[in-house]
Amino acid sequence: MKTVLSGIQPSGQLTLGNYIGAMKNFVKLQEDHRCYFMIVDLHAITVPQEPAQLREQSAAVAALFVAAGIDPEKSAVFMQSHVPQHAELGWLMTTLTSMGELERMTQFKDKSEGKESVGAGLFVYPSLMAADILLYNADLIPVGEDQKQHLELTRDLAGRFNHRYGEYFTVPEPYIPEIGARVMSLDDASKKMSKSNPNPGSYIALLDEPSVIRKKISRATTDSDSEVRYDPAGKAEVSNLMTIYSQCTGLSLAEVEKRFEGQMYGAFKKELAEAVVSVLEPLQQRYRDIRESGEMDRILARSAERARETAAVTLAAVKERMGFLMPK
Ligand code: TYM
Repeated sequence: MKTVLSGIQPSGQLTLGNYIGAMKNFVKLQEDHRCYFMIVDLHAITVPQEPAQLREQSAAVAALFVAAGIDPEKSAVFMQSHVPQHAELGWLMTTLTSMGELERMTQFKDKSEGKESVGAGLFVYPSLMAADILLYNADLIPVGEDQKQHLELTRDLAGRFNHRYGEYFTVPEPYIPEIGARVMSLDDASKKMSKSNPNPGSYIALLDEPSVIRKKISRATTDSDSEVRYDPAGKAEVSNLMTIYSQCTGLSLAEVEKRFEGQMYGAFKKELAEAVVSVLEPLQQRYRDIRESGEMDRILARSAERARETAAVTLAAVKERMGFLMPK
């Protein structure tokens, strides 16, 4: 059975982009893979976090994983910081990474641009991400398009380690959906939908009330044309909305086009809003139930224990190969 691993940062609200690009695939893959899904709090602190907010967001993201359909009986759902081996292998991986490789990371360039002071953690972030993946010898990494470059670096680091110290790590493959790997902002289809966008009208948060979802979609930017047609280069905004519709209903893009043939954008947006609400409303109900039940603490503890067992074996093998004097 192949191993799947992925993570989401508990920084700000999760969006429909996180759901379509990543979480939805976590749920699908857990049926026939050994899965590890993490709330990557050690990654979140690479930019300043307010402690009370980080704690609340971490609990919220954990509950959202389960609310989205991740079954804790099948998959491990845990906090990255509950498995200390992540930080330790992260350091070992940092020493295998070159400055040049990190300097080329577009996410680092985007996040540090124009900032007066940038934390060193933000720079070495991809080495920690490589450690997350390699600790479990994961085969398949379901992520959105924006993580592709980090995965390429992970593959390079796995190969480098294997070359220097003998074959040990599995070289992981990205699992990037064909449709929905890059859900764009509702107000500007040249930018990806992001929880860090200061304009909340640009994204749909997974916990937005149905009335807010309807309002945001009705205000989403379209074009001066009136055809619901998939053409990402020429009609980026409408194509993005069609992608969301397709992902929320299971219809193909061709079927979406057909369904709205001859209809105006207003009618399309109304149905789109209902399609999104029909996915998010039940998810929100499950989210509230899980948070009230207090069940999450037990799930996180059990999953972290499972994860630590595997992680400890990997870390010991890696240290042995690298030449550390092992405790007897
Ligand atoms: P993060 O927290 O930024 O995003 C979590 C996941 O959501 C995807 N995503 C999107 N997909 C489609 N459209 C969008 N607009 C959109 N926005 C976000 C991301 O691609 C990602 O899959 N570095 C990672 C977290 C991480 C990780 C890992 C992932 C840490 N360790 C190990 C995989 C394996 C990140 O910051 O994701």
